[in-house]
Amino acid sequence: MEDDSYEMMVKVVLVGDSGVGKTNIMSKYLKNEFREDSKATVGVEFGSKQFNIQGHQIKAQIWDTAGQERYKAITSAYYKGAKGAFIVYDITRKNTFDSVNRWVSDISAAADKKITLLLIGNKSDLEDQRQVTKEQGEEKAKELGLAFMETSACSGENLEKAFQLMINEVYKKCQEDIAGETEENPVEPGRDITLDKAKGKPEKKKCC
Ligand code: GTP
Ligand code: MG
Repeated sequence: MEDDSYEMMVKVVLVGDSGVGKTNIMSKYLKNEFREDSKATVGVEFGSKQFNIQGHQIKAQIWDTAGQERYKAITSAYYKGAKGAFIVYDITRKNTFDSVNRWVSDISAAADKKITLLLIGNKSDLEDQRQVTKEQGEEKAKELGLAFMETSACSGENLEKAFQLMINEVYKKCQEDIAGETEENPVEPGRDITLDKAKGKPEKKKCC
């Protein structure tokens, strides 16, 4: 279901080296489309999906950008306001796994400190070409303190789970923030918060 009556909008970004499957993760999940011949992304693409979390309508705005090094300049705008990030590597290319730490430090430098991170080992359908074991993925996630999942943009494996986990986690943190702010630090008027739009509702709901 997708309508305009959502209570909260959250921005979630996809990061990771070029070719790990970010664009296909997004298109498979949102449109059930997988392209074997997809071209490297240039600039930023968006998609959105509405979630019902504990009876609340949450709209996730998903941002996908180029993993290629030469487009690095746009990153600060890309991370601005993001409440969640999927850090994606390709289980068939070890070098993309080795880049994970760099993506995490980029995010730490540019994004909100409370951002929810989820490590994704994509292309789980290509078992015969695997260069990174599931255990290595789990180990890395543990070391970095992140949740972890292997997915396939081709078969769709775990995509629903990954997005549900992300949105649930972001929502939970938002609620904790709102509770904390109400008690101790009232939200400053006009503070830029990921956005909220409550069409048809007289009062705008606070967001984190
Ligand atoms: P950039 O836009 O350059 O950053 O790359 P990207 O991360 O968006 O990668 P993209 O989604 O374009 O995928 C790159 C290639 O990997 C394409 O040929 C896809 O078909 C393929 N691919 C992506 N995900 C999967 C997957 O889960 N399984 C398989 N078998 N192939 C995949
Ligand atoms: Mg892409």
